[in-house]
Amino acid sequence: MKAPASAKKRAAELTAELERHNHLYYVKDAPEISDSAYDKLFHELRALEEAHPDLRSPNSPTARVGGAPVDEFAKVKHRVPMLSLANAFDEKDFRAFDERVRKFLDVAPGEDLEYHVELKFDGLSMSLTYEDGEFAYAATRGDGETGEDVTHNIRTIKSIPMRLDTKAAKTKTPKTIEIRGEVIFPIKDFEKLNREQEASGGKIFANPRNAAAGTIRQLDPKIAASRALTAFWYGVGAVEGVSSGAGGLRQFESIDELQKTFAAWGLRIGDHRKVVKGVDGVLKFYRDVEKKRDALPYEIDGIVVKLNRMRDLDQAGYVSRAPRGMIAFKYPPRQETTVIEDILVQIGRTGALTPVAALRPVKVGGVMVSRATLHNQDEIDRKDVRIGDTVFIQRAGDVIPEVVSVVKEKRTGKEKKFSILDWAEKNGISAERKEGEAAYRATNAGGELRQRRFEHFAMKDAMNIDGLGWKIIEQLIEAKLLETFGDLYRLKLADLLSLEGFKEKSSQNLLDAIKATKKVDLYRLVFGLGIRHVGERTSKIVASHFGAIEPMLKASEEDFMAIHEIGPEVARSLREYFSSKEGKDEVKDLLKFVDPIAPKKAGAGAPFAGLTIVLTGTFPNLSRSEATRLIEENGGKTASSVSKKTSFVVAGTDAGSKLDKAQELGIEVIDEAEMLRRIEK
Ligand code: IVH
Repeated sequence: MKAPASAKKRAAELTAELERHNHLYYVKDAPEISDSAYDKLFHELRALEEAHPDLRSPNSPTARVGGAPVDEFAKVKHRVPMLSLANAFDEKDFRAFDERVRKFLDVAPGEDLEYHVELKFDGLSMSLTYEDGEFAYAATRGDGETGEDVTHNIRTIKSIPMRLDTKAAKTKTPKTIEIRGEVIFPIKDFEKLNREQEASGGKIFANPRNAAAGTIRQLDPKIAASRALTAFWYGVGAVEGVSSGAGGLRQFESIDELQKTFAAWGLRIGDHRKVVKGVDGVLKFYRDVEKKRDALPYEIDGIVVKLNRMRDLDQAGYVSRAPRGMIAFKYPPRQETTVIEDILVQIGRTGALTPVAALRPVKVGGVMVSRATLHNQDEIDRKDVRIGDTVFIQRAGDVIPEVVSVVKEKRTGKEKKFSILDWAEKNGISAERKEGEAAYRATNAGGELRQRRFEHFAMKDAMNIDGLGWKIIEQLIEAKLLETFGDLYRLKLADLLSLEGFKEKSSQNLLDAIKATKKVDLYRLVFGLGIRHVGERTSKIVASHFGAIEPMLKASEEDFMAIHEIGPEVARSLREYFSSKEGKDEVKDLLKFVDPIAPKKAGAGAPFAGLTIVLTGTFPNLSRSEATRLIEENGGKTASSVSKKTSFVVAGTDAGSKLDKAQELGIEVIDEAEMLRRIEK
């Protein structure tokens, strides 16, 4: 059944409006509406598309939450190859570049060249292809000739427009254009991701570039959708349909004009770009940016200098697959060598044991560093790091420095191997490591564990208790004032005043901060409990599924498993915690003080409120997970088997035994269309 014209028109309006707000928020950093107003438009569009599946399109704003996973990455041949850049590492190199380029251009001695200077983003290079102004597909660089199709993930990056606004830009719409740029992971988001990965026992990324690459290399776009990737666009490959110039470049006079056109089309271009004159202009920019480097919200590894005029670039030509008129002018890496004086072990909130190198202090990228993480025993073994080794260490942004590699030539033979198990034995700690996990865990490290658990409970993304830092927690634990989380709420002014360094005012502030968390979002409380594998995102999912903490105490492993997006390992961990005596006591005690706020969700008036629905067979439009999400968003629950408690069954084609069971029990069976109709109502 085709959607009526009115629905089609409204869907087009909503699409344009949502994309406009994406642009304002993610490119301009100047939102005009609140998140909830955005959500309202979004849900209206989604409901329309659900009611009229012919309105769906792969480039719809609703598709940005991540559609179905792909089975593999298809190969994509770039129309125009993705080239590389030559490097300059210092002023001398750069002057040599300028000299070289001059030889290819008709410039008078003493006349300065015109350069376009911009940041060199440290991410993953990417090519977007737009056809008739519509986003068609995205590919990685690969070997420069052929890359991998990562369209499914790129679509989730909301700063990337699904349609080039050539109308507003008053330019022609190219039939086909390849737009080249860099996908990056902002540093703050990267750090947050690693914290979450750590909390959930997931992979820790060494730096933002690896995190960007690791995210783009996922088959399931939901992962990319949940991460804060963004991108900057700086160049073109093929441009067809508006120009016959070499590589299509001639439709633009200069790099500056090209990038300004990109911006007018709605693409995000780099901050801090400039057109400058000669070597001096470039050197000034290079130094200015270096001073700002630490304050930038993303990683850069240099600047890129390009002849600004397309004519000059053409004339300079190419050498070994790099344009002769462009160069990457790099900053010194934030790597240094130093000596590992000792290896220490940190105990995390779930008991995870993290080896840390104690370094002979050294300045890296302007900061004094005396500790670097070694991640885990496997990393120590892989890199063959020993106490006494001279090693390369690296600092990326504000990230904890890490040991990159060993300078084996410096070995004297006196270096000592390190094993966490030996360390644990010496320190009377029993450590174990579960299959598939990187970290050993301490099972009996009482005091340390408690310290970590409280630090986690108080942290910003969890209960957000202002002023409750590690030092104060340590004092409180030492004074035997903190054993369980509930003890926080039992603290009295007199308790605090008895501690060293606590004044009347600071003590009262802390009590107020603790009191302020009595009303807290449910997910923060769940996250704060520090359950293994349960990061912030999982906590949100669980909180919105249960709506309160009491039912979690009674839930079985299957109940947790039945939640969309919760896997077996996480389900087991949740069940282990909530069914344990310690878990139950902890939660019940907390509930005497804390009154968690249920997430806003489909309320009692929602179409499927209180219903348990079973899905079977294949549906004409919705995937299984889309159907599940839809049911959950409308207040219902899904179950995996039919019983007397089942409210109704939604059956598609090839429905099997569940359908028989439903008929046997006399339970209502409906199809996808009917389910969508009930939601509409
Ligand atoms: S222009 C012919 N501009 O650096 C290649 N590249 O080392 C034209 N990169 O493969 C590239 N920021 O992935 C250009 N502002 C920028 C860049 C940039 C980062 C990357 C790009 C390229 C690599 C070369």
